[in-house]
Amino acid sequence: MCGIVGYIGDRDLLPILLVGLERLSYRGYDSAGIAAISDGEMSYWKRAGKIRELEDTVKTLSITHAMGIGHTRWATHGESSEINAHPHVSQGKKIALVHNGIIENYLSLKKQLTKEGHIFRSQTDSEVIVHLIERYLHDDLEEAVEKAVQDLTGTWAIAVVAECDPDKIVVARKGSPLIIGLGKDENYISSDINAIITHTKEVVYMDDDEIAIIEKQNVTIRKIGGEVITKKVNHISWDAIMQEKGGYDHFMLKEIYEQPAVIRNIISKYINSDNTIEFKHINLEKQDLARVSRFIIQACGTSWHAGLIGKYLMEKYTRTLTEVDFSSEFRYRQMITDGAGGEVVVAISQSGETADTLACIREAKCKFYNILSFVNVKGSTIDRESNAVIYTHSGPEIGVASTKNYLAQLMCVYLFTIYLGQLKWTLSQEQVDLMLQNLKRVPEYVEQILAQADKIKAIAEKYSSSREFIFIGRGLNYPSALEGALKLKEISYIHATGYPAGELKHGPIALIDSDLPVVCIAPQSATYDKMLGNIQEVRARKGKTIIIATEGDESIAQYADDIIYIPLAPEDLTPILVAVPLQLLAYYIAIKLDCDVDQPRNLAKSVTVE
Ligand code: F6R
Repeated sequence: MCGIVGYIGDRDLLPILLVGLERLSYRGYDSAGIAAISDGEMSYWKRAGKIRELEDTVKTLSITHAMGIGHTRWATHGESSEINAHPHVSQGKKIALVHNGIIENYLSLKKQLTKEGHIFRSQTDSEVIVHLIERYLHDDLEEAVEKAVQDLTGTWAIAVVAECDPDKIVVARKGSPLIIGLGKDENYISSDINAIITHTKEVVYMDDDEIAIIEKQNVTIRKIGGEVITKKVNHISWDAIMQEKGGYDHFMLKEIYEQPAVIRNIISKYINSDNTIEFKHINLEKQDLARVSRFIIQACGTSWHAGLIGKYLMEKYTRTLTEVDFSSEFRYRQMITDGAGGEVVVAISQSGETADTLACIREAKCKFYNILSFVNVKGSTIDRESNAVIYTHSGPEIGVASTKNYLAQLMCVYLFTIYLGQLKWTLSQEQVDLMLQNLKRVPEYVEQILAQADKIKAIAEKYSSSREFIFIGRGLNYPSALEGALKLKEISYIHATGYPAGELKHGPIALIDSDLPVVCIAPQSATYDKMLGNIQEVRARKGKTIIIATEGDESIAQYADDIIYIPLAPEDLTPILVAVPLQLLAYYIAIKLDCDVDQPRNLAKSVTVE
């Protein structure tokens, strides 16, 4: 999704903005631009396509003692083109604006402004904002921005610079993230910590309906139409080095290989030396958690798959009714509560900024649900707006396809299930001890699977020319099938579908022929025999079977065109293990097809529009 970066200070402006834009590029973008004010004059450049194009345009320039704003655009209103790229400039080209979000009433505003004589250059919704600011600007940019945003409906994070006020960047937020980075005699703005983390780790998170004036030595934040407010300065613990590829060809591969370390980190964060589980940021009383009668999990994409696995675990071990819904659907359905306060809405989100998920928790809060969130990015909006948070601690995830954070989510959901099972007395101490003992072996198991990367690569290459895949699994591994299919389609653009294996015969089996690879997730489990039957149904129709099975299961090999073994582990942990070969399979197929795995077309890492 779109990204914003801005800088005011004495250093060379363009490299700061360009590097910032590069660091935002993982979010997904199709064009980029920059505006700068130097010696009281505004200049701007924008290009469709890669940031490299923009860089080539400005590479000979050096602008110091200045300020500027930059933007990566992910098209919503209007195609990807230079004209639609940000910054958008006012008619007189004296004001420049970058915007993330969607202006819902832009058509009526555009009509009105056109009547007043404003000429629009682009097809975007964003451009209306700069014309509105121009309409209200006499000599005070802050006042004009404040008036303009009061005319808007929708969501926005905006940054504005103007020739008439050459020593300040004015920013405002409603519904889209915006961070102010604090420096010495310089300050930064960004929609994402990644863009500025190399310069500062002291940040202020803006909240909705706030406006801020960013000067070289000052940052002033006010509520729109209100008094100046003092906000908490937060220290970021992530290091810039975590955002480098570290010798790997792609962030995705690096992140796949980081998984054993991520899991070890989660174990050390949440399991004490006396084998007790502790979540420091759950601000709900233990007795209230023990009384929860229903969990409603809502999430999107890969996080939704983690939620589906959470349902199986929570119902099995805590005997608590657990529903799972896509955030984009849950938000617009009737939220029915028993009114007794025993229901908790659970949000699962890597970025903590997904607009659909955020909208759900806001709606659910209005209906007096408590919100428990599993979030990776500390300080994100979902983190700040939840009653209770479990951090998934996977570090920055840069590859657009979620990998290490998915495993982290599964680990955290599993730990939370055990924690809750203890509170609700549905798990005995012996069960808890055994579950934790098994959990602690997971990093080693994941390492053993990673050691088979060459074999998985060879299988991937063998099937890379297939134009369609089916993934099947049962029980806890039905969501694994969905996740395997999602990973493949998002990075390789091959059509893939995940099914519960038992559903195959109710329709999808019609698709099977000798050209169709079927990835069968068949580790040892309560439904293993049924799964074996489903695999044979595929074989009987000449489908190609790539089977993921448990080490030592030699008999299943007779039904496999290709087989990948995972270590023997309790069924509950198999979704964590099978995810790894599925990630590698997708990765190597995409590489073979020469796809941009870290920034697949049309995708955004953090989806900040509904
Ligand atoms: C897929 C993927 C997406 C995200 C989804 C939710 O690999 O990354 O499907 O899982 O957009 O994002 P978060 O977890 O940030 O809310």
